Amino acid sequence: MGIPSLITVLALCLSKVSTAPLSIVCLSHLLFPRGKVFRGFKYAKILLRRKTTASTVLIRDPEGLGLADLSVAVEGFFQFSSHGGLPALGFVVEFIHYWAESKMPRKLVYYVAVSLDGYIAAPNGDPSAFPIEGDHMEVVLREYGDAVPSHVQKALGLTAPRTKFDSVIMGWNTYNPESNGGLDSPYAHLHQIVASKNARSVPDHVELTHDPLAKIRELKHETGLDIYLCGGGELAGELLPEIDRLVLKRNPLVFGSGIPLFGSRSYQPVEFVHARTRTFDSGVSITEYDCAR
Ligand SMILES: NC(=O)c1ccc[n+]([C@@H]2O[C@H](COP(=O)([O-])OP(=O)(O)OC[C@H]3O[C@@H](n4cnc5c(N)ncnc54)[C@H](OP(=O)(O)O)[C@@H]3O)[C@@H](O)[C@H]2O)c1
Repeated sequence: MGIPSLITVLALCLSKVSTAPLSIVCLSHLLFPRGKVFRGFKYAKILLRRKTTASTVLIRDPEGLGLADLSVAVEGFFQFSSHGGLPALGFVVEFIHYWAESKMPRKLVYYVAVSLDGYIAAPNGDPSAFPIEGDHMEVVLREYGDAVPSHVQKALGLTAPRTKFDSVIMGWNTYNPESNGGLDSPYAHLHQIVASKNARSVPDHVELTHDPLAKIRELKHETGLDIYLCGGGELAGELLPEIDRLVLKRNPLVFGSGIPLFGSRSYQPVEFVHARTRTFDSGVSITEYDCAR
């Protein structure tokens, strides 16, 4: 057994660990390229970005990849197969990995900045007390780039990676263009959903829902990336039964009063399990929790 196959087998063993196997398999392809193996590599990257499988792409989303990408995908597959042996095995490992991932339901992730005393904004809704500079911003921009508002991305010359989230849900107070300088499409790179009990006017590309819980349950049955719960507190309190992951950017500030992390939800403990915490020189910590349910 050669080194590439050893790496591939190692990747297979690790296939439950996030995208690590893909990196290892890709590394093996990069170290030991054969023919046009990079076309298949590109295909794997497309699948990674879309967190989907070839069959899903071909059957449910034929136009999603675009014809050019689709031909690369098909061509890549035959090139892998015709080489036989290890590259094909690598492809199969990647395929199984994505197939398994696509079977995993998408998560609703409440990713939010919060003060030490549990507030996400001032009493008037102003979140500007949270620092936007410091070493934690590297994680915010790189890892959570999909959750950076479109106009901020544009100002910083960034492009949404579309590797974490493909949809965002906001409460009306968070979305309200009147309190956001007229901005009516803050996350233009995502499928934007706004919750309101009222008949609000929103642009065509923004979806209004009167039943955010049902909407989230519906989205979770569809294939796609995770759903970004932007806030605010009231909507988060309503959606708590469907929140799968909490990512708290805890800032070294005490507000005293403000908009609570989960609005005015009544006392009803819901257990979360600590996944990891990263601390930064800026004093910010980013803690991730998974719902215990
Ligand atoms: N720190 C952060 O990272 C962060 C992130 C996001 C937001 N924020 C801040 O949070 C503030 C807003 O928070 P908030 O708690 O006041 O309001 P919110 O959750 O953004 O919006 C509340 C509104 O959403 C609608 N809504 C909520 N639950 C609903 C349900 N079950 N069905 C239908 N509609 C529902 C209602 O709109 P209608 O009144 O139209 O019916 C409700 O008044 C903003 O000022 C923003 O700055 C901070």
